[in-house]
Amino acid sequence: MKDHLIVFDTTLRDGEQSPGASMTRDEKLRIARQLERMRVDVIEAGFPAASNGDFESVRAIAEAIRESTVCGLARANEADIRRAGEAIAPAARGRIHTFIATSPIHMEMKLRMTPDQVVEQAVRAVGWAKEYTDDIEFSAEDAGRSEIDFLCRIFEAVIKAGAKTINVPDTVGYNVPEQYAQTIRTLIERVPDADKVVWSVHCHNDLGLAVANSLAAVMAGARQVECTLNGLGERAGNAALEELVMAVRTRQDVFPCDTRIDATQIVPASKLVSGVTGFPVQPNKAIVGANAFAHESGIHQDGVLKHRETYEIMRAEDVGWGANKLVLGKHSGRNAFRSRLQEIGIVVASEEHLNHAFARFKELADKKHEIFDEDIQALMSDEVVTPDQEHYRLVASRFHSETGETPRADLTLSVDGQETRTSAEGSGPVDAAFKAIEAIAGSGTELLLYSVNAITTGTDAQGEVTVRLAREGKVVNGQGADTDIIVASAKAYLNALNKLHSKFERLNPQL
Ligand code: KIV
Ligand code: ZN
Repeated sequence: MKDHLIVFDTTLRDGEQSPGASMTRDEKLRIARQLERMRVDVIEAGFPAASNGDFESVRAIAEAIRESTVCGLARANEADIRRAGEAIAPAARGRIHTFIATSPIHMEMKLRMTPDQVVEQAVRAVGWAKEYTDDIEFSAEDAGRSEIDFLCRIFEAVIKAGAKTINVPDTVGYNVPEQYAQTIRTLIERVPDADKVVWSVHCHNDLGLAVANSLAAVMAGARQVECTLNGLGERAGNAALEELVMAVRTRQDVFPCDTRIDATQIVPASKLVSGVTGFPVQPNKAIVGANAFAHESGIHQDGVLKHRETYEIMRAEDVGWGANKLVLGKHSGRNAFRSRLQEIGIVVASEEHLNHAFARFKELADKKHEIFDEDIQALMSDEVVTPDQEHYRLVASRFHSETGETPRADLTLSVDGQETRTSAEGSGPVDAAFKAIEAIAGSGTELLLYSVNAITTGTDAQGEVTVRLAREGKVVNGQGADTDIIVASAKAYLNALNKLHSKFERLNPQL
């Protein structure tokens, strides 16, 4: 029997700390449901003390998720831990993840605490967490630059206090594989009762080594990997879940453990995260990049046609490529639509929302013969299906673009239920549409990102547009999908404005 390697996904916490990747509560819930479907063991749902919005997101995920452990992050102080404890209370299985920095530079310059005080605070933190759950994870922040003797000392103390998972983060992505593996080996050898806890690794990708470091640590005895979808995360990101899972699975001849991940859910999960955050996946990204399984050279194509394994070490369909099977068409009824939503894990809040969504589905089916799961996902992320959250809505549009003429957009918008017309000229039809919207909204925002992706293949595919807007330090991502990419662009812009309009203030700055 191989050991079980625990997959701890932190897309919703460390991933969200990536500048511009902020997500709404509903978006986090959708991602959490996809993580559960993928059979992730632990979902780090957020940092409840960071803001009311974070608290509510963690709590909503704790209420909705039954199969994965739901974890809340907390600094090693009483207020943070109590907030995390309350947020995870409804979970079927809830974990508190508490951390304090242990490197000389962090203790001295950031915490302004002595090593003795840090150990004492860590032990007290575990004590507070025990009032809420037995499932306590302790992280030594910046362990990658901490002294090994001090790590042994603090880990011994928190294990005695009741921590069940010991995480050794390479917070600044400074480590290299053999050295990091040696750190894990030494800790497991030297810390008393090391065999009573799970050793966990959490690697950042500043030197492009997050996955390599994590895998080296697994070979040295770590049995939990902390990671994010698409490697999302602060700076250069975290270790990529898809790469860790598939490396371990593909090289079972090397690794003494395996995960329980349903790998066919990886590509849908990657697309969902990329769509919600507006962070595109580079085409040559391992596993989830559009070209990850594409063979261009004639020699390779010839080899693959003769015998697939000549050039392929994994099958595209095993990680979820090509799973966008044709699902529904223009003659499909409301019940078929409802059951397909259930199958792909989308929960509709009410019959009214279902009716809105079904009407939108019918509109799309008139324009596009074949409707794939990705089309439905995009449709459901459109705020038209949650009318109560809509301040601005696109009612009608006309765009004019002709050689030698200045492009122009004429829009009818609904603003809080009141229809109003607006027009503008621009350097192109998208620019004109955004200017027409701004003539009404006057939002004072800065456009940080505009990106367009085809959701499926073919020229009748829907274009999915992401717009990132910033105002007074608050960043939101808006999405819009349509077979007409100018319409999709206007919808994405309005979606971002709607998010700015609904308040989800962070109380504290991000960590
Ligand atoms: O990188 C880090 O050290 C963290 C901790 C909070 C685990 O994200
Ligand atoms: Zn981190």
